[in-house]
Amino acid sequence: MKIASELVQTVKKAKYVAVLTGAGVSAESGIATFRDPDGLWAKLNPAELASVDGFMSNPKLVWSWYQHRRDIVHSTEPNKGHYAIAEMEKVFPEFALITQNVDRLHQSAGSNDVVELHGNIIENHCQKCKKPFLGETTLPDGELPRCSECGGMIRPSVVWFGENLPFEAMAKSEEIVESCDLFFSVGTSAEVYPAAALPVKAKQYGATLIEVNPNKTAISHYADFRLEAPSGIALPILLEKLKEIE
Ligand code: OAD
Repeated sequence: MKIASELVQTVKKAKYVAVLTGAGVSAESGIATFRDPDGLWAKLNPAELASVDGFMSNPKLVWSWYQHRRDIVHSTEPNKGHYAIAEMEKVFPEFALITQNVDRLHQSAGSNDVVELHGNIIENHCQKCKKPFLGETTLPDGELPRCSECGGMIRPSVVWFGENLPFEAMAKSEEIVESCDLFFSVGTSAEVYPAAALPVKAKQYGATLIEVNPNKTAISHYADFRLEAPSGIALPILLEKLKEIE
């Protein structure tokens, strides 16, 4: 894969690099994306599986779907794209990683301080009193876990459609886009807001925008550079090129 030397030079000069990732980064680990032709939302209904209303009307269905996704996540490993992003943290004077992914594979690859915009599917909390739940979620006879404090229903700690993003994660993301000088949008269709607004905001605040995605997206026309390839291929090559000009 060929990478323009202008792009490599721009990355080399960057002082504060920010990366926003989406489901595409985990695709090479074998985790399905949402909006690709074979993605999850092509076959499943997000209103049933990823909303508070869907959970309240059929909690067993929602639980079984998240248990299934957890099983997939626990049987997969980070790929070269995750590892390249973890390495980027060491390469630039300042670095920030914001993810929409809920699989925690960035952390498994060694990334620190990951801003999780959509929560994660590993942890659970009470839908009613919001307290974290550390108990067992796989109960006999298909019973569903309940909060020991208030009796409320326990749910995965992901952000569902119609819910607000975690305040701290959103505030941190705003701070990052205002301060970074280079912003990578990696493996996201940039269709779900407010995350989708971050790359364009970063550009408006003066950052150079690089998109890493084998396909064009809603924000491709804003990008200063595009690496039209899977992240597990493009990012390791980019890191190699950076080393060559050290
Ligand atoms: P999408 O499924 O919308 O987009 C995945 C993007 O990854 C597409 O643009 C693909 O072209 C790209 N892609 C596929 N394989 C790739 C690869 N190997 N390397 C790089 N890119 C690749 O996923 P998101 O943008 O993450 O929300 O979706 C945003 C949110 O919508 C998700 O966080 C989820 C979903 O509903 C919640 O769960 C709250």
